[in-house]
Amino acid sequence: MSSDKSFGELSYEQFAERYAAIVETKPHNAYLADPAITALLPPVAGLRILDAGCGSGWYSERFLDAGAAHVTAIDVTPAFIAIARKRLGERATILRHDLREPLAFAADASYDLVFSNLVFDYLPDLAPVLREIARVLVPGGTFVTCFGHPTGDWVLALSGRLTMDDAPDYFALQAFDFAWGGFGEPRPVVRSYRRPLSAILMPLIESGLVLDGMIEAQPTEAFRDADPADYERHMRSPTFLALRARRPGG
Ligand SMILES: C[S@@+](CC[C@H](N)C(=O)[O-])C[C@H]1O[C@@H](n2cnc3c(N)ncnc32)[C@H](O)[C@@H]1O
Repeated sequence: MSSDKSFGELSYEQFAERYAAIVETKPHNAYLADPAITALLPPVAGLRILDAGCGSGWYSERFLDAGAAHVTAIDVTPAFIAIARKRLGERATILRHDLREPLAFAADASYDLVFSNLVFDYLPDLAPVLREIARVLVPGGTFVTCFGHPTGDWVLALSGRLTMDDAPDYFALQAFDFAWGGFGEPRPVVRSYRRPLSAILMPLIESGLVLDGMIEAQPTEAFRDADPADYERHMRSPTFLALRARRPGG
């Protein structure tokens, strides 16, 4: 493990239990990010799946319930590992792993699907993790991910609501702190990164994975029912970007 604590662990050790308790019904997750990433998924029955940054393990459970052959669920935050273990028991292989490090536990071409929801925002450099994802996928295998939309993050940076060391600079990788609402008090202060679109797409291209699907998430009707004002905002302004890419061959 890296000796310096990852932004993921720093952020989620404050409120992993609170996050796990509401993520499946919280509008931002359930009715905005989830529909986008789910729409890009292949049928999962029979697949060997890596859930990279599994959090509470709700997607791992969904994959297993839908007939996945095997799920490996990894996360850097010990509290989430404990929650995922309690939830999944022996049904999945659950490992504490920092995605800033190589996927040393995984052989080449050992997964049909790598899934990573709302995790890339915590990684400083996407190139090494994307190279590793390409390595562990079988030829023809699928990578599906969702993360903060770079335009949405930029708008947020310009809004002055983020705490950053430097002035907003679209072209720079910038770490920021943001006090999240919707999880009760005390508000968790989440530390993550924003980056330009090229810092997402160029590492993907250089990894050898081939982009074949993309959704700029918009909220579902269930979001409107839960929070009409926020629904209107998310209908007009980007928040999450979901991508699907394949390892060529197979
Ligand atoms: C927003 S949560 C998403 C959790 C889950 N994928 C979901 O959709 O509910 C972000 C997750 O990324 C994990 N994470 C952040 N940085 C990480 C890293 N360097 N290595 C592994 N996991 C990381 C966090 O611990 C947390 O579980």
